[in-house]
Amino acid sequence: MSRISYVNGRYLPHKMSMVHIEDRGYQFGDGVYEVVLVLNKKLIDFDGHYRRLKRSLEQIALDYHFSQTLIKQIINRLIRFNLISNGLIYLQVTRGVAERAHQFPDDASATLVVTAKPISISPVIEGKKAITTTDQRWDRRDIKTIQLLPNCIAKQEAVENDAFEAIMVMNDGTITEGASSNLWMVNKENQLITRKASNIILNGITKVTIAEIAETQKIQVIERAFTVNEAKGAKELFITSATAIVTPITQLDEHMIADGNVGPVSLALRNMYLKKAL
Ligand code: PDD
Repeated sequence: MSRISYVNGRYLPHKMSMVHIEDRGYQFGDGVYEVVLVLNKKLIDFDGHYRRLKRSLEQIALDYHFSQTLIKQIINRLIRFNLISNGLIYLQVTRGVAERAHQFPDDASATLVVTAKPISISPVIEGKKAITTTDQRWDRRDIKTIQLLPNCIAKQEAVENDAFEAIMVMNDGTITEGASSNLWMVNKENQLITRKASNIILNGITKVTIAEIAETQKIQVIERAFTVNEAKGAKELFITSATAIVTPITQLDEHMIADGNVGPVSLALRNMYLKKAL
């Protein structure tokens, strides 16, 4: 069976799914994206992803109108065509094809690309290593733009240091988030700390749901900045994203978090999140 992807109204074999070399996504990184988790053929937190996509488009003045029903229909077809049970949907909208000039073109129409790929969800989750690195991004990290070079550089640094994620740190010593995830810590008071949504971070859709789940479990969630030193002294650290779901971080740089084992809060939140698919 060949993999099928969606490009501007057409379902094509993945290998033949292409956009023009003068697409502004390719030339300028002029576009936005979403990644949506699929569990048991069910889209997880889709309303949140759709709302954030619309907001990202508005924030970069990309005039592209489509209904939630249409996007859902495209995604559900890709899930069927690609026989996906658990997987990831990647959806990207760019400002379209135009002769290269920095200002927005008058006459380009947006490019919509959607892909789907299967993933396996392991019932057992291992703790991962993360490294800290400088956050080199711009001031509008709340927009889910496809311009990800600083994130790619940070992730590459993680890989070269045998780590799963790079935790990005601002000049004032506070953590923003992971290269492709949000970071959380459980402190000595068993409070759950994560950075408050602002232009400083991407407000993860998984993060919002995890905060809601935590509150149903009477775990206090505090949204504030925290430093690398605080993170190293935490009882538990974990990251959240559509791809990582809830992934425990048991080592930060050369420092073990608590006793180096996966903690009960991370594990419980992960399991409760996975239950959303049932
Ligand atoms: N990234 N912060 C950054 C910088 C991210 O790139 C992501 C997700 C998140 C978590 O957002 P969410 O919970 O909505 O997935 C936070 C996706 C998965 C990616 O780029 O592949």
